[in-house]
Amino acid sequence: MKANIAVLPGDGIGPEVVAQAIRVLNLISQRYSHQFELICFPFGGVAIDEFGAGLPDHTLRGCLNAQGVLLGAIGGPKWGLNAKLRPENALLRLRGELGVYANLRPIKVIPALRDACIFKPEIIDGVDMLFVRELTGGIYFGHKSRVSDRATDECTYTVSEVERITRIAGTLAQKRRHKITQVDKSNVLETSRLWREVSDRVIREEFSDCSIEHMLVDSAAMHLISRPRDFDVVLTENLFGDILTDEAAMLAGSLGVLPSAAIGSSKRGLYEPIHGSAPDIAGRGIANPCGTILSAALLLRYSLNLENEAQAIEFAVNAALSAGARTADLATAGIKPISTQAMGDAILDMLSSV
Ligand SMILES: NC(=O)c1ccc[n+]([C@@H]2O[C@H](COP(=O)([O-])OP(=O)(O)OC[C@H]3O[C@@H](n4cnc5c(N)ncnc54)[C@H](O)[C@@H]3O)[C@@H](O)[C@H]2O)c1
Repeated sequence: MKANIAVLPGDGIGPEVVAQAIRVLNLISQRYSHQFELICFPFGGVAIDEFGAGLPDHTLRGCLNAQGVLLGAIGGPKWGLNAKLRPENALLRLRGELGVYANLRPIKVIPALRDACIFKPEIIDGVDMLFVRELTGGIYFGHKSRVSDRATDECTYTVSEVERITRIAGTLAQKRRHKITQVDKSNVLETSRLWREVSDRVIREEFSDCSIEHMLVDSAAMHLISRPRDFDVVLTENLFGDILTDEAAMLAGSLGVLPSAAIGSSKRGLYEPIHGSAPDIAGRGIANPCGTILSAALLLRYSLNLENEAQAIEFAVNAALSAGARTADLATAGIKPISTQAMGDAILDMLSSV
């Protein structure tokens, strides 16, 4: 298969972890006789510095022309809260331009990482959930204002926005354990009452083989860490999903191992690890590249329909971790941490033997 993949290394540890994902994609391309064309574009803080825009026109064009977009991470103290141009706004715009309204974040405990996790094995063993987070609506995109001593962020959702993401959750639940937990704050928020009503109707009418339960976000925050095995597909809005997915990430041991996919109505998606640019460790060659490599696997699965290749990458990451390869974020007492590049080497070795 010929495929054009836009690569946005971004800021901080972004270029370091993306470099390892590129090596993995090149090996997949070679071993499975594909022709992947990987083209890098400036995006985020580096693009602000060089082109005066976080999402320069040629980067946007490159992404729109690609079949999938792989992103490292953006942001950092240099482009902080009071900066005129912020990398985070470029990411919000890119998501909107690509029409990727559903963020998929699988949270699965990798058995080899049980010892790196802060939770007891009896809590985390068997955890396998998939977050479906709305990505282009809600409070992040609502009208914002600041007048004298008053600041406002408006939160709006429409029926069609909730319907389309509920359908994605339903379709994915049908390939899993057929259970959806929709999370909201319907005891207080009108938008949450809309979410509850619409998601309930869509699942009942169109996905009768699935069940849907509704949970308040405060209870969900508690149950996610007290009984995480009970969750299958978690469907929620933009803000709640942003917060809950980072909480759930701790179940897997480290932010560094978790991938995400942002998809919409076309096959083209945006794939990135769930972590940020980690300015505290940037440039030291110690970042964990697993989340980015697993994001590349999701790109192969969702945008290119290459399920075998995606599984080969997932197998190689699991095998490398099981064999004891650990970057500093995962290293426990007695284990010598390895570099980002060495973690990439360990995964490539496993991939070569699949
Ligand atoms: N989508 C994105 O690009 C994205 C997402 C979240 C945050 N950010 C941005 O990233 C910057 C830093 O944010 P933050 O510090 O709150 O979150 P962060 O995810 O960058 O880092 C949180 C902690 O996790 C560690 N960490 C993160 N990724 C790691 C990896 N791959 N390997 C090892 N350790 C890792 C960091 O060292 C840090 O201690 C901010 O500017 C923020 O806006 C960007």
